[in-house]
Amino acid sequence: MNLAELNKIAEAMVAPGRGILAADESSGTIKKRFDAIGVDSTEDNRRDYRELMFRSADAMKSISGVILYDETIWQKAKDGTPLVDVIKSQGSIPGIKVDEGTKPLPGCPGELITIGLDKLADRLPKYYEQGARFAKWRAVIDIAPGIPSHTAIMTNAHALARYAALCQAAQIVPIVEPEVLMDGDHDIDRCYEVTEWILKETFQQLYFQRVPLEGIVLKPNMAISGKKAGKRAGVQEVAEKTVKLLKACVPGAVPGIAFLSGGQSDEEATAHLDAMNKIGNLPWKLTFSYGRALQAAPQKAWAGKSANVAAAQAAFTHRAKMNGLASLGRWSSEQEKKAA
Ligand code: 13P
Repeated sequence: MNLAELNKIAEAMVAPGRGILAADESSGTIKKRFDAIGVDSTEDNRRDYRELMFRSADAMKSISGVILYDETIWQKAKDGTPLVDVIKSQGSIPGIKVDEGTKPLPGCPGELITIGLDKLADRLPKYYEQGARFAKWRAVIDIAPGIPSHTAIMTNAHALARYAALCQAAQIVPIVEPEVLMDGDHDIDRCYEVTEWILKETFQQLYFQRVPLEGIVLKPNMAISGKKAGKRAGVQEVAEKTVKLLKACVPGAVPGIAFLSGGQSDEEATAHLDAMNKIGNLPWKLTFSYGRALQAAPQKAWAGKSANVAAAQAAFTHRAKMNGLASLGRWSSEQEKKAA
């Protein structure tokens, strides 16, 4: 493993003013998104949609890297150019989702374990050869009465660290993503407590499994109220509690933290990131690795019609730019309206 090279990639992934586009929806998830806009989830439609984003030159100035699904990393653009080359030509780094989804965790009703470790050591060199310089593995932790269990926290953290060690051995930067879901009615403090638990366990496992932190990027959720909470915490509270939480759990050796959006509205996700960067004096870069919060607007604008490609690209560019500003703490809601 060449740690200096891994660190260089990790730093580039969180470069000031840029963040990551999560375009790695599994076949099931992209079908759900396409169903919502009345588009058939065919291989060509998935290619056309993703290609329109990767070809948005202005948007890509704010996108340091793109997480791809297995299908996409092998796909060619309409004109025959490999999509990874389109991404690289925008000065952006191709990445690959390598987990194989989740399965029920035995003995733990309602809880999940992320799978995909078995053949991972064999799959990684092929992705590297195809241009991937970073990878993603998502662990899912749900909050509900009686859960998460110690078992779910421990096994998911262990798998995250196994994945991270295998990636680094293959000269690929692991995005370590322990996601605490915001689906329930829990308050922000319960989210804080559970996120602290999974982060502490994850960093302990990374240490036990000899993963140097200079060669990873962390992708956590924010400390945030559940979607169904009666009264949801405001932007400033989310920003302050998230920064406090991360300072307590994430060593300064980690080059950067790139948040998932997790079901926040587009503007909420931007405002939270911006408020955190406005607090300033942070030991790591704080940026975005959004899926839904970057793509909801372009998907709606596109609706599967080639006549709408320019409008979809404009919508994508707007969100990418707003989040790029938020990664510098230079976003404002006035700017949002002015540019919209
Ligand atoms: P969301 O931003 O839609 O949560 O997706 C990010 C992601 O990659 C989840 O694994």
